[in-house]
Amino acid sequence: MKVRPLEPQDVCLAAEVEQVAWGDAAASMETIAGRARVFAPGSIVVEQDGRVVGYAAAQLTDHLSTLSWADQTDEGRIARTHIPDGKLAYGVSMSARPGVGGAGVAAEVVGYYAKLFLGGGCRALCVGSRLPGYRRWAQDRTDAALGTYLSRGESGEPRDPEMRLYARLGFRLLWEMPGYYPDPESGGHGAMMVRTAA
Ligand SMILES: CC(C)(COP(=O)(O)OP(=O)(O)OC[C@H]1O[C@@H](n2cnc3c(N)ncnc32)[C@H](O)[C@@H]1OP(=O)(O)O)[C@@H](O)C(=O)NCCC(=O)NCCS
Repeated sequence: MKVRPLEPQDVCLAAEVEQVAWGDAAASMETIAGRARVFAPGSIVVEQDGRVVGYAAAQLTDHLSTLSWADQTDEGRIARTHIPDGKLAYGVSMSARPGVGGAGVAAEVVGYYAKLFLGGGCRALCVGSRLPGYRRWAQDRTDAALGTYLSRGESGEPRDPEMRLYARLGFRLLWEMPGYYPDPESGGHGAMMVRTAA
């Protein structure tokens, strides 16, 4: 697999990947092109055998919060939230075609961003993880506190599959974010995760 900056001719292909991964919540071509106009280095595609199989966008910021994804990313458009001299790189969106195999798109994206941002003077890579396992975990519990879900299970790994993916890629939990993203499986919640330079 190969990761490279998004070029204008990739916008349509990235939108296709977004559509497969996110359905109705996919970023439009206009949003994808807009992100690249605001901060070109943060918009990237992942290619496998010459085909675009992944897309990601990031912004720079100087602070993190517990606010929603929409608030922290200007509803994904980044025009009002990208801070050019910010020292925190924040993942705005990541999407992959299913069944890519190998190390996976996320590992390629995080490896690329780590080199670009952590190697380029940023203090941390940050992502707001959805919690797609939360609703199922919570449904039959009387005590379904978000904090309990976010604490590590017996295996020592995060209970949530998306958090587990980020944890395996070197991220650690910073804080919970109730109301982060309107995803029913996550109960609308999320978790801020960070990876700092080794
Ligand atoms: C997240 C994503 C880009 C990762 O792609 P990838 O690196 O090629 O890897 P996979 O899709 O095979 O997922 C890798 C692992 O993460 C888990 N995972 C990641 N996101 C998940 C999610 N939203 N729900 C459930 N499991 C998830 C998978 O179960 C898999 O676990 P396993 O290795 O134990 O089987 C891709 O799954 C995707 O596009 N998901 C939909 C959009 C999304 O949730 N983006 C991330 C938030 S911005």
